[in-house]
Amino acid sequence: MDRLRILLIAFSLTVAQGYGLGPGGSRPVRTVETLTQWGQLEFGFPTAQDRENAQSAGNLVPENGTPIDVQAQYLANGKIRVFTTIPRFVTGIPYTLATVSETQARNGPLLQPYPNYSWHNGNGENCDKITSAFRVAITECNQMWVIDSGIIGTTQHCPPQLLQFDLSTDRLLHRYRFPNDTYIPSGSLFITPNVLVQDPPPRGSCSRTMIYVADVSYHGLVVYNHQTQTSWRAENRYMYPDPDYGQHTIAGESFYLMDGMFALNNDKRNLYFHPLASASEYAVPLSALNRQENWASGPEALPEEFRLLGRRRSECAASAIDGRNNVYCVTFNPIKLFVWNVNTPYNSRSFGNLPAKSDELQFVSGMKVVRTPDGQEELWLLSNRFQKISAGTLKSDEVNFRILRRKLDDVQGGVFFSNDDDLSNRLVFTK
Ligand SMILES: *[C@@H]1O[C@H](CO)[C@@H](O)[C@H](O)[C@H]1NC(C)=O
Ligand SMILES: *[C@@H]1O[C@H](CO)[C@@H](O)[C@H](O)[C@H]1NC(C)=O
Repeated sequence: MDRLRILLIAFSLTVAQGYGLGPGGSRPVRTVETLTQWGQLEFGFPTAQDRENAQSAGNLVPENGTPIDVQAQYLANGKIRVFTTIPRFVTGIPYTLATVSETQARNGPLLQPYPNYSWHNGNGENCDKITSAFRVAITECNQMWVIDSGIIGTTQHCPPQLLQFDLSTDRLLHRYRFPNDTYIPSGSLFITPNVLVQDPPPRGSCSRTMIYVADVSYHGLVVYNHQTQTSWRAENRYMYPDPDYGQHTIAGESFYLMDGMFALNNDKRNLYFHPLASASEYAVPLSALNRQENWASGPEALPEEFRLLGRRRSECAASAIDGRNNVYCVTFNPIKLFVWNVNTPYNSRSFGNLPAKSDELQFVSGMKVVRTPDGQEELWLLSNRFQKISAGTLKSDEVNFRILRRKLDDVQGGVFFSNDDDLSNRLVFTK
């Protein structure tokens, strides 16, 4: 009896540290751990009056809120600040960029508006505020870039914009409003910023930054050069959705979503990308994208620079890349967190499968690699149940949204093995 209890305690401790037992029980295998979860979002307000005002203006309908991105920031005091985005796909969202507080409310942790409540554009009337933040990116420069689509529902209230915040002061450093030759009002939807700082610290001064922005519904890419404060469009057939992959099945429920250009990663040489409705991965050299002259005669230039890398078994949504150039994504059906190194062919022989519980990972719409203060890398994921939102079967008494994390110290670049269903054999362990 006592021995059993000690064993149980020991086991729960290893699980709490993010380990499970590997097949055969011989070697510990890292698992994906859920850090926090919601049945329904809980919106915090600076004052009770602000909450009442939001409610009477129709801007507080918590069941309308779907978190889609996650980003973590390690603070000097050792704590972690976690950001999430809640785009205004529909009305009833009081703010669309938030931090996840440590205060637990009935349905999950309380959100707080970032950088503050007055920054948020309740009904699209003030374009100096944030209208609909989709995804964010934190750089080596302790800055956060936010892509704001400017759209509520299907109405383009404001031009899309990029906002750059200093994370040590939470002040706005820069705003870039996209000019009207880079998007189609209400046709485009800017959803993902991928950032490359070309002069990072400690030697660089963070002034030469390129940002690649996915236009998911008008099928393109917008390149922003922060130093010259100019932007241009690139379009290619590979950015379109594939109708053969327009119906998706996640955890046994199916829905249609013909989303194009979706996930972007770069390894400083190439931009890797895929549309959502697709099982293919593509690449284009940054050198081609970064020269504005290349696109002067129109967005459909340089078709020969775009390459099909290969195919996976199923669609996947958000994606992230680590410092060893491993790219992570979660396939829909079956639900699998897989890793591919950019130096290997894009096919199932090169893919590594990272153990994850398929009932916890569902539609992974946000993913980031985060570096801890001691230089370790972690994968952060946001999972929602888009299949249920789409079908209208979401129930707030179930867990619908999760933020999860996995340490990446056991994943190395380059070499994976091809034993199809043995998950452990495909990983190369560093210890
Ligand atoms: C919110 O942020 C704005 C812009 O940084 C600032 O001017 C304002 O004082 C802040 N409001 C509150 C209540 O902190
Ligand atoms: C874009 O904006 C410019 C300057 O405001 C205007 O002259 C031009 O007609 C606009 N073009 C389109 C396509 O809306």
